[in-house]
Amino acid sequence: MTQDFSQLDRNGRLRHLITLDGLDPGLIRELLDRAQGYLCLPGQLPPRGGDLRGWTIANLFAEPSTRTRASFELAALRLGADSLNLDVMLSSRVKGESILDTIYTLQAMQVDVFVIRDAEPGILELVARHVDDHVCVISGGEAHISHPTQGLLDALTIQQSKGGFRDLVVAIVGDIRHSRVARSAYRALTALGVAELRIIAPEEMMPDTGEFTGAIRCRSIDAGIEGADVVMMLRIQRERIAGSATTDLRHYHEQYGLTAARLARADASAVVMHPGPMNRGVEISSEVADGPQSVIRRQVSNGVAIRMAVLAHVAEARGRRMP
Ligand code: NCD
Repeated sequence: MTQDFSQLDRNGRLRHLITLDGLDPGLIRELLDRAQGYLCLPGQLPPRGGDLRGWTIANLFAEPSTRTRASFELAALRLGADSLNLDVMLSSRVKGESILDTIYTLQAMQVDVFVIRDAEPGILELVARHVDDHVCVISGGEAHISHPTQGLLDALTIQQSKGGFRDLVVAIVGDIRHSRVARSAYRALTALGVAELRIIAPEEMMPDTGEFTGAIRCRSIDAGIEGADVVMMLRIQRERIAGSATTDLRHYHEQYGLTAARLARADASAVVMHPGPMNRGVEISSEVADGPQSVIRRQVSNGVAIRMAVLAHVAEARGRRMP
C-alpha cells in the first residue's frame, strides 16, 4: 500500500482489508476471537447471523479459486447478505472495460462490499481509492503480495492446534518467493509474536533478503523442519514463474516434498498445514496430507469463520444496519 492510503477508518477499525501489513496485533486477535464464535462441530448446523442483512457482497475473482471464493460466498450468505459471484474472466473486462468501470457499474446496483482477487499488484488499493464512502474492499488475494484472510485463518488454525504463538517454531516450505500466502502468514505470525519462523526453499524460490526479516532461511527441508511445531507447505506458483513448465517435479518432490519419513524430524506433535490447492506427490505426499497430523481441512473450516468475522467487522465499523 502507498503511504498516503489507509485501510483503517478514523476509529482504527477496518474500512477495507487489503493487507495485514502494519495491522495492530490487538485487531488481529479480535478478528480471531470473533471467528472462533462462528465455528461449529462437524454435523452441526453452521452458526448464522443477521449482521449483514440488507448488504450486497460481490465476489470479483480474476484468478482461479475454490476455497476462498466459496468461503466468502458462504460467509456472506450465513450473515444474511445477498451474494453475487461475477466471473471476471467472462465479464466485460475481457471486452476492454476497465476494472473501475466494472466497479462503478456494480456500485450502481448497490453493492456494498467488493471481494477482489487479482494478479495485478495495486488493483485493490486503486479500487479502494475510488469506491463510494460506504463501500468496503476486501482482498481475496493480490498477486504474490498479499492474502490477508488466508493469513488470519492460518493464524487461527495454529492458535487452535497449539494454544498460542509464543513458544512456537513455524516452518514454511516451498515457493515462498511467489507466495502471497507465505507473506500474509509471515505478517500475522510476526504480529502475534511467534518465537521462530523458518523459511525453507530452493534458491530460485527464496524471497529477496529485504523481505521476511527476522526469519531463518534454510535450503534443506530436513534441517529446516527439525523440531518444528508447525510445518506449512506451499504449492509451486507456476503461473507466476516464467519458464516454470521446466521444473522437474519428481526432483522437487525428492528435495522438498513432505513425506511421513521427513515429517518425523519435526516435533512429535507438529501439525501440517497447506492452503490448497495441493499437488499431491509434489510438495506433499498423500500419507501426510491425509494423515493424523494434518490440519488442512480445519484450515478450510476456519476460512469460512474468518471471512464471516471480517465481514461482520467491516459492517459493524460502517454502522449501516437494516432498520
Ligand atoms: C492460495 C492462493 O490462491 O494464493 N490458495 C488459497 O487461497 N487457498 C494458494 C495457492 O494457490 O497456491
